[in-house]
Amino acid sequence: MDREELSILGWNLREDVVDAFDRMVELRRDFHRHPELGFQERRTSAVVESHLKAAGLAPRRLGGTGVVAKIEGRAPGPRRLIRADMDALPVTEQTGASYCSVHEGVMHACGHDAHTAAALVTAELLAREGLETGEVVFVFQPAEEGVGGAQSLIEEGLLDEPVDAAVAFHVWTGFQTGRVFAPDGPVMASVDGFELVVTGRGTHAATPEDGIDPVFVAAQIISAAQGFVSRTVSPFEPAVLSFTAVHAGEAFNVIPQVAGVLGTIRTYDEKVRAGIKTRLMDLAEGVARAFGAKVEYRSLVEHISVQNDDQVASKMRRLAREVAGAEAVISPRPLMVGEDFGEIIDIVPGAMVVVGCRDAQRGSVFPHHHPCFDIDERAMALISELMLRFVRE
Ligand code: NI
Repeated sequence: MDREELSILGWNLREDVVDAFDRMVELRRDFHRHPELGFQERRTSAVVESHLKAAGLAPRRLGGTGVVAKIEGRAPGPRRLIRADMDALPVTEQTGASYCSVHEGVMHACGHDAHTAAALVTAELLAREGLETGEVVFVFQPAEEGVGGAQSLIEEGLLDEPVDAAVAFHVWTGFQTGRVFAPDGPVMASVDGFELVVTGRGTHAATPEDGIDPVFVAAQIISAAQGFVSRTVSPFEPAVLSFTAVHAGEAFNVIPQVAGVLGTIRTYDEKVRAGIKTRLMDLAEGVARAFGAKVEYRSLVEHISVQNDDQVASKMRRLAREVAGAEAVISPRPLMVGEDFGEIIDIVPGAMVVVGCRDAQRGSVFPHHHPCFDIDERAMALISELMLRFVRE
């Protein structure tokens, strides 16, 4: 990757961001090569911490593998927070890239490597140059992918001191490189991840009347639950219920004892969210009871939707236009994926800024969480520039 490829995008970047771009790429590829799952980001956080220290900052640990560092201005002023997530996913990489994951079965398939690299280099730039007013807190968050990273930081006091504005960036292969999505209000959906455990009674497959078939019960629950979104939610209200895993049995001639079903609910409305959840539990219990089985609903993940603060979001849109041109800011429908940054900006004003990183020539066209997922790394330069402007203005 060279400067020319960055310059053809015509972005209005500061010279030090352009100069630091190679470093962002190098760091991102290093993180990419060594992906770690949520709350296991030991190497990643150690690298982050050592670079922050080398830049003269005094990082501290928070939420297990999280790292927080602040930069204080020469004069008092607003307190801002920049959050980057660090965790990877249980996906086996198939990109064939030179910086391919060396950890079998673990992959940065969502771009969090890029968020960490861009925020780290931005912190270095700001540490070098100093800050006029206020304070900036850089937050390198563990475990965004559904295991409670944001929640653990909040519980350990991340937001105990007031924050005037918080931002997080997410690269997105659904949008062309340089496009920026930072609407007022809804950006990403709420997330409920659940497991339904149906317990029946195992028996010989030839004599089902002697047992209770949990596979049949699970299948009825999965089929009937599809009716919730189509029959109980307004067509104007976005909602998704997906079943994503079914585990039961091992042999063609044995009715197993237990069937496990995984799934997720995504929506923007808390009432719709609660409605689907309650109905799902009622349905599961009702069907199970009718056939003499038992069912348990276990919650795996719960977080609210990401709702941007209008003021912070409109500032980020203005900055994006200044850097990447009048056409840069797009307004598609909100995304149905989730992000636990919603928990942070539910407490303090803030905005999630989604930055396009799709480029057909670079092959960065695969959806997030796909084994061939990759990004147009130039998006990191735009993110870094936006972080710097967010802090300065
Ligand atoms: Ni992500």
